[in-house]
Amino acid sequence: METTNREFCGAGRRRLLHGIAAAACSAAGLARAAPAALTIRLSHVVAEDTPKGLAANRFQALVQQRSGGRIAVAVYPDAQLYGDHDEMQALQLGAVEMLAPSLSKFGRIGFPEFELFDLPYLFPDAASVRRITQSSLGRRMLDRLARQRLVGLGYMDNGFKHMSANRPLLEPAHFVGLRMRVQASRVIAAQMRALGARPVTLAFSETRRALAAGVVDGTENPISNFWTQSMHEVQNDLSLTAHGYLGYAFVANQRFWEGLSAADRELVGSALREALHFGNQIADTQNDKALAALREAGGTRIHVPTQAQIGLMRKAVEPVHAGLAQRIGPQWLRDALQAMG
Ligand code: LMR
Repeated sequence: METTNREFCGAGRRRLLHGIAAAACSAAGLARAAPAALTIRLSHVVAEDTPKGLAANRFQALVQQRSGGRIAVAVYPDAQLYGDHDEMQALQLGAVEMLAPSLSKFGRIGFPEFELFDLPYLFPDAASVRRITQSSLGRRMLDRLARQRLVGLGYMDNGFKHMSANRPLLEPAHFVGLRMRVQASRVIAAQMRALGARPVTLAFSETRRALAAGVVDGTENPISNFWTQSMHEVQNDLSLTAHGYLGYAFVANQRFWEGLSAADRELVGSALREALHFGNQIADTQNDKALAALREAGGTRIHVPTQAQIGLMRKAVEPVHAGLAQRIGPQWLRDALQAMG
């Protein structure tokens, strides 16, 4: 039986198509609308209705509009094409042109200095993080990605992470014995250990299922991720700890980026800058909206730690800062603190 392009590129596309086949699908889909001379495939792991998902879609629209349809951006959200396990390799091999991983995911590929963004209770607010990402230190960190044939194009916030489980997690005693899903960041793993929990590294796309199956007991994420992954259906308690930051770096494959004409690089680069600015502007409201939706849905108990409980949490994770300084060299942290002012 003949398989039509629509069937091939439709529901069955999830997880099945990699690289060239996926490009053929997006190119074919786009060809029906307006022929694009160039398609930029941008893969990410979160839902569309999140700060990163909306920024990626804004980038797509801006590039389409400014190039008059000559350059298309095919956005693959929700780990449809690649997930945490294989997206970096896909980018390096040129199976996609762009990604937007969380900063926590760069340690694993040889850039442990990015884990300074994971340090619990380092940042009082997103403005302090911006003072690093917009500084020469932030630029230097992105430039170092060239060692892995990546081009760091810019940073974007999601926001602050909160703890969830089937019990309140407001002070270290509450974490004892829990298996907590973490991203592949040694700092986040150390943070969970310091709190008394057992960290379990899992891909983002596997997290909800693992929570539902009881493979892990809890996790941490900004509320926009918690809500759009329907984690509230499998977690009874969300504790508004705001203990750590989650942000992203948008990165491109070096060969692709350098192969663009100077004019196209400028077009794509400025569209991305604008999309990241937009993403930063909506990040807080997206998280607030998700919290409101969560309250409205009911079912999840929402807890707020007292100052005394925050004090206990901060104290417990203090050694994590020293541990990272020792691993990456204390100068990185000194520079970060200096950039924060
Ligand atoms: C996670 O894996 O928890 C997050 O990094 C997902 C994301 O990209 O926001």
